[in-house]
Amino acid sequence: MTTIAVIGLGTMGLGIAQTYAAAGFAVLATDAMSEARATAPGRLRAALTPRVQAGKLTEPEMEAILSRLTIVEGPEAMGTADLAIEAVVERMEVKRTLFAALEAVVAPDAVLATNTSSLSVEAMAEQLARPERLLGLHFFNPAPVMKLVELVAHPGTAPTALARVRDLTEAAGKTVIQCPDRPGFIVNRCARPFYGEALAMLEEGRNPAEIDAAMQAAGYRLGPFGLIDLVGADINLAATESLATAMQGHPRYHVFDALRRQVAEGNLGRKTGRGFIHPGQPGPAPSD
Ligand code: NAI
Repeated sequence: MTTIAVIGLGTMGLGIAQTYAAAGFAVLATDAMSEARATAPGRLRAALTPRVQAGKLTEPEMEAILSRLTIVEGPEAMGTADLAIEAVVERMEVKRTLFAALEAVVAPDAVLATNTSSLSVEAMAEQLARPERLLGLHFFNPAPVMKLVELVAHPGTAPTALARVRDLTEAAGKTVIQCPDRPGFIVNRCARPFYGEALAMLEEGRNPAEIDAAMQAAGYRLGPFGLIDLVGADINLAATESLATAMQGHPRYHVFDALRRQVAEGNLGRKTGRGFIHPGQPGPAPSD
């Protein structure tokens, strides 16, 4: 049986674990925080229960999904993984350290993947003994709902690793689009000017709710501020700063003070209950 390992049980990691467990794969998952490990099965049950109530999943199917998730203490207990996906904080050094720990325990042909939104996959692979086994696997929030997964190849990624991960992820019902290892891949790069223009209008004195209402009435499922609240202002800022650096300060990737202030004040969006619009209820929407 194929085993998927997931490291980081926050917003994205738990959703990624759910995605593969729902597709029938065995999932090993961990987090550096003991509380995140302890609460993960309950959070997964809470995420699945509305689907049972809506008649989209039976009770036994839910129990089967839950039974396929095994929480372990740390990466050292993930030696049986065929594919290990990290969804920890968006910091290069943390991800590099984690991959070094994973590489020490997994089989030689296991594939390693990063869910990074904005960091260079090639730079992450540099210190690995087998850089050809690392690729980007960028899910969107909420991972179980959003169809798209960007599959990111750095120049040295092995075609066999890409093909294997594409197959596993398509088997989990996703649409996999391969992207080059360029800042923002496809979606986040296109999304920066979308957020940027909205933040520019905010700084000109317009109201975020009004801007979102206009964009939603124009056909977007969420407006730019609702999206920042869903994704997390901290995650959005990290992605914007990465792109601004990579694009050498091009004005299209400007980092607005209004976004920095949200993060400095802890108004991260739904995860802190305070954002540009209001906390609202988590729900399906396109995002970083
Ligand atoms: P989060 O803050 O909700 O969760 C991160 C989790 O990782 C936390 O539970 C934390 O305790 C854990 N963690 C931190 N360092 C760790 C380590 N060394 N080992 C094990 N666990 C560790 O973050 P979120 O939003 O889930 O993002 C995770 C990654 O996914 C980031 O790289 C982010 O850029 C990316 N991403 C985020 C999206 C979003 O919409 N929030 C969308 C797509 C990608």
